[in-house]
Amino acid sequence: MTKFIFKKSVLLLVGTFLISGCASEPAPVTVESFKPGLGEIMSLTAMRHAKIWFAGQAENWALAAYELDELKEGFEDAELFHPTHKHLKLPMKQLILATMQQPMNALEKAVEAKNLIEFNKQYDQLTTGCNACHQMADFGFNVNVVIRPNFNPFSNQNFSAH
Ligand code: HEC
Repeated sequence: MTKFIFKKSVLLLVGTFLISGCASEPAPVTVESFKPGLGEIMSLTAMRHAKIWFAGQAENWALAAYELDELKEGFEDAELFHPTHKHLKLPMKQLILATMQQPMNALEKAVEAKNLIEFNKQYDQLTTGCNACHQMADFGFNVNVVIRPNFNPFSNQNFSAH
């Protein structure tokens, strides 16, 4: 009798496992499942924006150039993964070109020239570019304002190591 109950419950267990296994078939893994959201790309963009500043203030021009390159790559990803976006009235490419292209090029020149005064000026232009795009987005400019970072949250990185 015990043996019978045991057999029955094992069967029940196996059955339940099989049924639930079939019912919750995992969704196939596609490139789409790895697509970063624009919010994720922007969070990285904000990190790069801050790191560029601290690298510049430390006159670590190689690091500033590297982080600026990463910033550009982030905008390339934004264009690739989100050619259009629910919060933006214009195509991503067009907005990046209008708000980021010129400030990024000018900042790159200041970094190449290793000129801190020019760097600070162009950094503010870059920040104005970030806010220009946010102002055009439909969530409004006063909820998402980018500024010069006023303290360095990356205490595990030595920005002046060069
Ligand atoms: C092409 C337009 C555009 C440009 C240029 C742009 N942003 Fe954004 N940003 C957006 C949009 C749209 C969102 C909202 C994304 C979403 O739906 O989550 C956003 C969101 C953000 C967020 C909030 C992310 C979060 O989840 O907390 C930050 C921070 C941010 N941007 C920083 C920046 C910085 C820094 C720059 C400039 C270096 C910049 N952005 C340039 C369009 C832009």
